[in-house]
Amino acid sequence: VKTEVGIIGAGPAGLMLARILQQHGIDTVILERRSRAYVLGRIRAGVLEHGTVETLKAYGVGERLKREGIPIKSMQIRWNGEKHDTSIVDESGRHLTTYGQAKVVRDLIEQREADGLPIRFEAAVERLDDLEDAPKIRFVADGAAQTLECQFVAGCDGYHGVSRGYIPDAAAQSHLRDYPFAWFGILAEAAPHPDMRGFAHSTRGLAVASARSESIGRLYLQVPPDFDVNAMSDEDVWDELDRRMDDGSGQRLNRGRITERNRARLRGFVCEAMQHGRLLIAGDAAHIVPPSGAKGLNLAIGDARVMAEALRGRLRANDDRIYADYTAICLRRIWPTVAWSCQMSDTLHMFPDQSSFTTQMQYQNLNHWMHTETGQRRFRTAMLGLPYEI
Ligand code: APR
Repeated sequence: VKTEVGIIGAGPAGLMLARILQQHGIDTVILERRSRAYVLGRIRAGVLEHGTVETLKAYGVGERLKREGIPIKSMQIRWNGEKHDTSIVDESGRHLTTYGQAKVVRDLIEQREADGLPIRFEAAVERLDDLEDAPKIRFVADGAAQTLECQFVAGCDGYHGVSRGYIPDAAAQSHLRDYPFAWFGILAEAAPHPDMRGFAHSTRGLAVASARSESIGRLYLQVPPDFDVNAMSDEDVWDELDRRMDDGSGQRLNRGRITERNRARLRGFVCEAMQHGRLLIAGDAAHIVPPSGAKGLNLAIGDARVMAEALRGRLRANDDRIYADYTAICLRRIWPTVAWSCQMSDTLHMFPDQSSFTTQMQYQNLNHWMHTETGQRRFRTAMLGLPYEI
């Protein structure tokens, strides 16, 4: 098999890249290790920056998003019984949007299939060869070893993918922070309560209440890294969420059947070597953010935009400039976003053996973001997302 750009991974990064390249008339093949049903069913993030929404609309995959996306115009943070609330709408009316990553992925996959373009599901990439001049992607599908020849390889295969390993400097130029806790996430058939949402910092640890749709709630509890997600009954989970979210108003979360339980470690990770020869990497393959800023999906879309332009330059315009600068352009948006996500995490969680001094420092951050003009602007700008260079 041959194509112009071989894309590894059908997550948001790979699918968005493929969509933009399609609009430029560039041929792609996507190889995805998992089954179609698995990829469509995977539950992940659900908050889109304004820029992500505009990108999806601009490339013709925003119809359902226009109908079903729910605007988020303010952010609540609770602090041991106090409730703080700040607007995140900026001068030009931009805001965030609730729309599940699973829906973004479905919209992109269905559009591509409707256009008759290939996604090879259950095709696991095992090795990359000749990345300097004539790349070959070796993969296994239908029980047989196969090769995809291409001019460029897009490594959009997530944190545990294979492609980062083919960048010689990747390990030496990687930066990692591991947090000593995890998030226990649930999906629940419970209409999100309009006043009981956002983050809560409590002595028992962080809680988060967010929406996936008008009728589905997505909620999280900070837990130890080895926490067993099946250890608590539904009732106990709701009780714990209510305890942490308590703001003295007597209001309680709307309860409902818990349909999904998962656990995710928190880490910050940036690989500062994002290209080698004819291989470029994007999204979780190159960086991970703690989920508190809801930035993972949004960063992946930002990378995909830059990668598409870099490849268009090389393949259609005989222009190497963006390609040569790909890593630097991406990192200028990645690092501040990772830093913000970590700052939020540092402020909102209870760390093991946390001192009262640290708790006061956290409270000062919160106060700055919620109640001072400069802090509110900082909070709003960071939440809404940095502008794109490309
Ligand atoms: N061969 C083929 N596909 C692979 C391989 C492989 N060897 N290794 C991984 N993949 C696939 C995974 O199965 C997954 O579908 O690559 C895809 C990577 O997708 P994501 O993990 O969703 O990463 P990305 O597209 O960068 O999106 C980042 O996803 O992890 C969330 O919260 C994160 O929102 C962020 C977003």
